[in-house]
Amino acid sequence: MRIGVIAGSSRPGALNPQVVDWVSAQLSERGLDHEVVHFGAFDLPILDEAIPGGAGMYENEHTKAWAEALRPFDAYIVVTPEYNHSVPGPLKNAIDFVGQEFAHKPVGFVSYGADKGVRAVEAWRLVFANFRAATVRGIGAFSIFTDFADGAFAPEQVSADTFGPMIEDLVAWAEGFAVVRRNAEAAVAS
Ligand SMILES: Cc1cc2nc3c(=O)[nH]c(=O)nc-3n(C[C@H](O)[C@H](O)[C@H](O)COP(=O)(O)O)c2cc1C
Repeated sequence: MRIGVIAGSSRPGALNPQVVDWVSAQLSERGLDHEVVHFGAFDLPILDEAIPGGAGMYENEHTKAWAEALRPFDAYIVVTPEYNHSVPGPLKNAIDFVGQEFAHKPVGFVSYGADKGVRAVEAWRLVFANFRAATVRGIGAFSIFTDFADGAFAPEQVSADTFGPMIEDLVAWAEGFAVVRRNAEAAVAS
């Protein structure tokens, strides 16, 4: 099983890399194979595909590269800030390019913000439902006020403890959804 960790912000001075590093360390501690995927590394413009991403009929090389980077995972953790009480626009634009890569896979969230980013997560659930992905209930959730000290990520224990239930469900669901994907592939092949 391989988990894709989707970094949710690429702006200068973002807090995101610190939270992503923490998530990566948590996964390593649990012996979970994973890789961080940065949408900022793909030079994606404002959405420029003619056909909606869910169809998987990508025209542009940047879209194909981004989709290939997302495809090989059994589960995802989106590390997301909250912008204007919802999802961060730059990552939403990147996600709008793709879609099929997430089908029949579980997605978990680690969020942060003034109110721990939970409004962003609830908005993301609707987006990923459109890709036939399943989002686990638990959220690793952090406050920009109490889980950072002078700009450095220093999660309180009570916040760090929110990661466990999320990852437990994500791993269990990844095993279950692997069966769903195998059955779907077998049905197509027959
Ligand atoms: C455009 C923008 C809108 C924001 N809106 C919210 C918000 O609605 N709720 C919130 O809790 N924080 C909000 N913030 C503050 C972010 O939680 C904080 O800046 C955080 O560091 C953003 O994550 P990043 O640094 O990884 O990009 C906003 C920040 C930006 C840049």
